[in-house]
Amino acid sequence: MEPVIHLTDKVAIVTGASRGIGAEVARTFARAGAKVVLASRKIEGLTAVADEITAAGGEALPYAAHMGKTEEIQALVAAAVERFGKVDVLVNNAATNPYFGPMLNIEDAAWDKTFEVNVKGYFAATREVARHVQSRGGQGSIVNVASVAGFMAMPLQGVYAMTKAAVISMTRTLSVELGPDVRINAIAPGLIDTKFASALTQNEHILETVMQKTSLKRVGQPADVASAALLLASDMGGYFTGSVLTVDGGWSLG
Ligand SMILES: NC(=O)c1ccc[n+]([C@@H]2O[C@H](COP(=O)([O-])OP(=O)(O)OC[C@H]3O[C@@H](n4cnc5c(N)ncnc54)[C@H](OP(=O)(O)O)[C@@H]3O)[C@@H](O)[C@H]2O)c1
Repeated sequence: MEPVIHLTDKVAIVTGASRGIGAEVARTFARAGAKVVLASRKIEGLTAVADEITAAGGEALPYAAHMGKTEEIQALVAAAVERFGKVDVLVNNAATNPYFGPMLNIEDAAWDKTFEVNVKGYFAATREVARHVQSRGGQGSIVNVASVAGFMAMPLQGVYAMTKAAVISMTRTLSVELGPDVRINAIAPGLIDTKFASALTQNEHILETVMQKTSLKRVGQPADVASAALLLASDMGGYFTGSVLTVDGGWSLG
């Protein structure tokens, strides 16, 4: 019997797939039957995850692309179509947070980089995949990994938080403009155990403060986010569009 939530015959691009949440999304999607295209800047990490997927019987294409560069994003989508014939699913997950500190002190270069990857990159990839799906008269699903930072006050990570609010806004507006052929949803993770969050998870004071407000009393794992992405990407999530699924153990409500 086929599993209830599956991605059989689907082709999915996952950005930021060399580690953390993106790598777990790629593994989960491959287990669910998808052919996956893994993107990030460095090919080594991608190849390692792709090899794991292939060894487990799945199909994966590692592809190096900087998600702040529109031409590299276009080349990524073209490579996915060339290899697997189409793209059905995009998970925008690669993001950056180069500055940690009071918002007023951020340098322009760090501001630009944060918006370039986290907002322009998500938008450019969405545009490429949505146009591709529209041009072949298919059905697509786009999942944007945002953050609870997009709707909570986030001292010392203010500009990063602004980019996540922008992703949520983009998701809502595009859900109206892209229906009925392309569904687009966001996930708002709380604190998840990855390299990205290590400055927070390894700081006892920050960790304790977050845990006090987190009903489930644990840091999230990449698999907690990957399962939400699987639901939104699959046909079982077929009536979700414009949603923001919070996966934070209750932190943002505490
Ligand atoms: N961890 C958390 O607590 C948390 C909470 C809320 C939201 N999120 C969101 O979850 C997503 C994934 O985060 P994570 O925690 O899994 O981070 P991570 O473990 O640090 O992984 C980040 C991934 O993004 C790639 N990447 C970074 N900059 C890139 C660029 N310019 N172009 C292409 N790829 C790039 C990295 O690979 P390369 O170095 O090879 O490029 C890596 O694969 C992000 O959108 C983040 O904002 C995380």
